[in-house]
Amino acid sequence: MTEQPKILIVDDEQIVRESLTNWLKEDGYQVDAAGDGPEALGKIRRLPFHIVLLDLKMPGMDGIQVLQEIKKDFPDTEVILMTAYGSVHTAVEAIRAGAYDYIVKPFDPEEVGLLIKKILEHKNLVMENLLLRQKLEEKYEFEDLIGKSAPMQQVFELIRQVAPTQATVMITGESGTGKELVAKAIHAISPRRFEPFIPLSCGALPDTLLESELFGYEKGAFTGAQHTKKGRFEMADGGTLFLDEIGEISLKTQIDLLRVLQEKSFRRLGGTDMIKVDVHIISATNRNLQEAIAQGLFRSDLYYRLNVVTVLLPPLRERREDIPLLAKHFLKRYAIEINKKIERLSPAALDQLMAYNWPGNVRELENAIERAVVISMGHELTPGDFAFLQASPGAPVGYSSKNLQELEKQHIQKILEENHWNISKSAADLGIDRVTLYNKIKKYGFERKDN
Ligand SMILES: Nc1ncnc2c1ncn2[C@@H]1O[C@H](COP(=O)(O)OP(=O)(O)OP(=O)(O)O)[C@@H](O)[C@H]1O
Ligand SMILES: [Mg+2]
Repeated sequence: MTEQPKILIVDDEQIVRESLTNWLKEDGYQVDAAGDGPEALGKIRRLPFHIVLLDLKMPGMDGIQVLQEIKKDFPDTEVILMTAYGSVHTAVEAIRAGAYDYIVKPFDPEEVGLLIKKILEHKNLVMENLLLRQKLEEKYEFEDLIGKSAPMQQVFELIRQVAPTQATVMITGESGTGKELVAKAIHAISPRRFEPFIPLSCGALPDTLLESELFGYEKGAFTGAQHTKKGRFEMADGGTLFLDEIGEISLKTQIDLLRVLQEKSFRRLGGTDMIKVDVHIISATNRNLQEAIAQGLFRSDLYYRLNVVTVLLPPLRERREDIPLLAKHFLKRYAIEINKKIERLSPAALDQLMAYNWPGNVRELENAIERAVVISMGHELTPGDFAFLQASPGAPVGYSSKNLQELEKQHIQKILEENHWNISKSAADLGIDRVTLYNKIKKYGFERKDN
């Protein structure tokens, strides 16, 4: 606190006001006094005080009412209640209403001086901690992304570099690593941020539908085309088009897309006019596109057009130091959302999350925390709340990749069996997409036994 601390004394007895004022002035504080609640509130509104010494019993407006008014408008002002011996229980109530502490009349001025010192020290500490925390958060949070690991810090840096440019960006990484969040972060800090961010999931649509989604169509372009419809390219004009699951598009659509990228214009389906657009293209894939190129499934010329800058999101198991921050972040979010007073993860629970392999990456971690918050009965999450993560009772917990693979294998098998091999349901429970699940089934050579 650089400015001189300001203290207000509120008491209906003149003798109390005068003696306290003299005492505190001697200690070097700026002191003012008021004889009742309304006068005190008037003074506080004109010039906020750091500390208010407030008599509990005053004619007219009593101390509790004054306290509530102060706390409503000036939550940072600390209030010390002064109370006669008989009304200590009211003073305790006042603490619940936001008073810092109370002193019992008649009091030793020395005692008051010490209490004020303590409050001021505490306030300094709170300010320092606040500044420190803000600095940390700035460093480890980037838009909605969280990460303190070196690879995530590099991702933040790359986002900062590419956001002001027109360079196409391809984001790669396993399912659930945060590709969509990265795309949104790039848009959010780019000069295009006030223009639309338009996502399109290319994998979800058959060829013809994808083309009409991308480019739009004219009325009568095909049966069922009753109105002219704008495509995503037009919607994204001036902004960002996010082509998700780009690895899934057909060779035919690849050619069309390449042409748009080269000419920066296109025709709607069934249309004749060329439409010019200014769109920043970001794409994402969890496929290895180099492999797809080698197999002739993806055009290399399109790949190079889309991939001027690559952002690679490493799987969560390769940046375990992000797990505690992420876990706490999701815990805070879901405790509020589900309305439970859960304040922390027990050290053992955190150990367990650190040791787990997270095949579904951050999404799986998020789902796991949500699930644990739902089933938790206490004020902290314990290993029991994450029992569903354990592949089998007493499974080895450790960082060796063999153990982790075994753990993952057992876990996936268990979820598959629980869901009677319903792939969509199992993938959702695991927090991975269906393609990833199929790949894991192939990798581990699972076979369905119950039919
Ligand atoms: N670094 C991160 N910080 C905070 N939340 C994250 C982070 N990474 C991912 N998430 C959260 O995890 C979930 C999955 O992220 P997102 O949808 O971006 O993944 P994705 O890579 O696009 O996955 P998919 O390939 O399956 O589409 C989201 O709820 C997202 O908010
Ligand atoms: Mg995604």
